[in-house]
Amino acid sequence: MATDETLQSPQPNPDAPIGIFDSGYGGLTVLREVTRALPHESIVYVGDTARCPYGPRDLAEVDGFVQQICRFLIAQGAKLIVIACNTATAAGLAHAQQTFDVPVIGVVEPGSRAAAYTTRNRRVGVIGTNATITSNAYSEAIRAIDAGITVFSVAAPRFVEIAEMGVRMAEGPLESFMAEASKVYVRPEFEEIAREYLEPLRRCGIDTLVLGCTHYPLLKALVGSTVGREVTLISSAKETARDVAETLGRRGEASAADDPSHRFFTTGNDLAEFARFGGRVLGRQMESVAHVDLDGPFRGPS
Ligand code: DGL
Repeated sequence: MATDETLQSPQPNPDAPIGIFDSGYGGLTVLREVTRALPHESIVYVGDTARCPYGPRDLAEVDGFVQQICRFLIAQGAKLIVIACNTATAAGLAHAQQTFDVPVIGVVEPGSRAAAYTTRNRRVGVIGTNATITSNAYSEAIRAIDAGITVFSVAAPRFVEIAEMGVRMAEGPLESFMAEASKVYVRPEFEEIAREYLEPLRRCGIDTLVLGCTHYPLLKALVGSTVGREVTLISSAKETARDVAETLGRRGEASAADDPSHRFFTTGNDLAEFARFGGRVLGRQMESVAHVDLDGPFRGPS
């Protein structure tokens, strides 16, 4: 039972939105899969761009951000929250589940499950931000499923920078700038950085690599060409969307609405930029973008 009355969510309402958040644009890769799996759901998304990146920060600080953003999403009526950021999941999932009445789903467990089910030689690589890798969240989650799996983890902090840079440089739909021949991500200076991070993992004989940061699916072509075709890349987005669908179904909270709304909030001040770059990751226009001050008092949906 929540101790703070203000944290209580209202009665189950299938047409209430799903709350999704990330430090920036990366969580939109999860939102894409959630909308594919659940086209009738309304969504409220928060990109904490003013405080991005989370990766180099202390886990305790990121835990505080998670609490703050969940409170905001609940004030917007969220019936379920997806922490679409591995760093934030590692730092704050358990605390958020303890604090709030609505289900809170992270991305580490779904990604770990997919990796454990995919590997044949039981040698799994994980790349993520510094905070995610030092938290050991992935190795613990993967080995909780199969303790016989050896997990090799490497922090790849510059991949966040590269992913965000590509979003700024790209034109056209996401699929074209993620493609193998894309000049946006597959270029010599990025390939050199990719080799530096991934060569040690390749030498460990992994057959499965978890893209343990929601920004990294944008770099699939770059990462895939560096580790080789024999290594299967895992992104947790699809698996997370499946968890969301399963949780809502079990609780009788899945929406059948014909006109779901998708609202986007950024903690940054440049709404036009957020809409432009976010729209590229999303593969469509962002219809409603607003600024949110997470330190201020929250108002419900207007
Ligand atoms: N997208 C975040 C994650 O999944 C990382 C980006 C950041 O460092 O803020 O870990």
